[in-house]
Amino acid sequence: MTPLGPPSGRTTPLSTQALTHGRTLHRFRAGCLSRISHPGANVKNPSPIPTAAGRQPLLGHLLPLLRDPLRFLARLPERGDLVRVRLGPLQALVVCDPGLTSHVLRDERTFDKGGPLSDRLREVTGNGLATCPHAEHRRQRRLIQPAFHPARFPGYAQAITARAAETTESWQDGQVLDVVAEMQGLTARITVDTLFSTTTSPDLLTQTLGDVNAILNAMPVRMMTPPPLDRLPTRSNRRYHRAQARLTRTLFRLVTERRATGTDHGDLLSMLLTARDTDSGPAEEMLSDAEIIDQVVTFFLGGADTSAAALAWALHLLGQHPEIEARLHAEADAVLGGRPATHADLPRLELAGRILTETLRLWPPGWVVTRTCTTDTQLGPHAVSAGTSIVYSPYLLHRRADLFPDPDRFDPDRWTPENPHPPRREAFIPFGVGARKCIGDRFSTTMTVLALATIAARWQLRHLPGARVRPARGIALNPSGLRMHAISRSATGTAVLPNGKQEES
Ligand code: HEM
Repeated sequence: MTPLGPPSGRTTPLSTQALTHGRTLHRFRAGCLSRISHPGANVKNPSPIPTAAGRQPLLGHLLPLLRDPLRFLARLPERGDLVRVRLGPLQALVVCDPGLTSHVLRDERTFDKGGPLSDRLREVTGNGLATCPHAEHRRQRRLIQPAFHPARFPGYAQAITARAAETTESWQDGQVLDVVAEMQGLTARITVDTLFSTTTSPDLLTQTLGDVNAILNAMPVRMMTPPPLDRLPTRSNRRYHRAQARLTRTLFRLVTERRATGTDHGDLLSMLLTARDTDSGPAEEMLSDAEIIDQVVTFFLGGADTSAAALAWALHLLGQHPEIEARLHAEADAVLGGRPATHADLPRLELAGRILTETLRLWPPGWVVTRTCTTDTQLGPHAVSAGTSIVYSPYLLHRRADLFPDPDRFDPDRWTPENPHPPRREAFIPFGVGARKCIGDRFSTTMTVLALATIAARWQLRHLPGARVRPARGIALNPSGLRMHAISRSATGTAVLPNGKQEES
């Protein structure tokens, strides 16, 4: 039994997907988006690829993309299953169909890492697992996968439980919370604990979190600007380069210090330092220090912010849907009786799991991901030429009304086994799919389900009157402006005490 109770043989909700799965310096591709080129594949009578609506001379689709990228994305399927988007002389193809998306993701040789987002991320994560090319991916994944073996999760969950308890115990009744900042602090501490296990000073943690955020916040604009502009001494460029250099220095120190001690701490870093790949030649058997630093940066950038975004959106949605919140409180009371959630509780936190699945459908933190086409090829009825940038978007697919009826409605019950019209498996892709599927899916699920249940056991979060919550244009989709009152459930008479007894109101 998994926390989410998947409909068997049908689209598998988040936790089931997650819970059953488990430098050599790469030449940085100079351009952001591919230059316009002519279709080169030998496809007989290829279907033309439509261009997105709203194109303007010279600028292409820059303005609608800057103004409201989510709206722009969600409307693309109206044009076709593969749609051309232009930014001045540059272009990318956006895949709008679940079958074609699956084709792109499962043919990782033809559709390799690359394109605007991946190329920009590579500046920071180097040749880490998320950005290394296909040719190097299999070896890296083999070396790193043991760190995410199911047997390691009870250990990781201890850190999750402790940090979730610490965070929720620090809140005061009636306090106004900056929810995104709270959740980012929580997931960053958990990431540090599980990566490094040794206690990191609060100052270093704050600094590291600040650097990670500065890098992530700069990414969306960097994706759309040509690399030569990076050298301009603008404030944002300076801030970005400072954060990147300091983050690398900090992590380099932590990794070299740990290697010098030679002790196995049972954490992710120890796993990376001792990982051996017996299928490789002796020179490639282990990860080098530089490769380990790339992996650590990758876990930071890829793991903490995305999981924080999922938690923040879930709290926002629960604040908007008191009836679902009441059901979650009832589940938390029955399973936890006021105490923090542990790994052993996961199978019974079924509604918490479905709430997070539905949150990832509505607001997938990895909302847009890119690839580059390495050879002239065919995608469905279309010819696609080598060098073309390809974009896929979980957000776009998850909001298609033909795939998810009433797609904008928050409905965790669409994931129950009883739903007679379960969503299509290939349409729900918050963690991607294929060989490059998120390695941290199970980790993230464990973290977010335990954290959400621990919060629900003690707290009710209410929006401030008049609050305007909007998706922020970051690299992870975050709710900006999300400030909420923390109301102690024991004060309202609805919660139970840590000893499991019902509190009298
Ligand atoms: C809600 C949380 C998360 C979401 C929505 C998410 C989303 C994704 C997506 C969509 C991909 C695939 C990208 C592609 O197709 O190129 C991915 C890959 C990856 N994610 Fe996550 N992720 C999450 C949490 C995490 C965590 C907690 C970690 C680490 C502890 C992590 C580490 C990675 C890595 C290393 C990859 C690259 C995998 C590979 O290429 O082999 N992610 N993630």
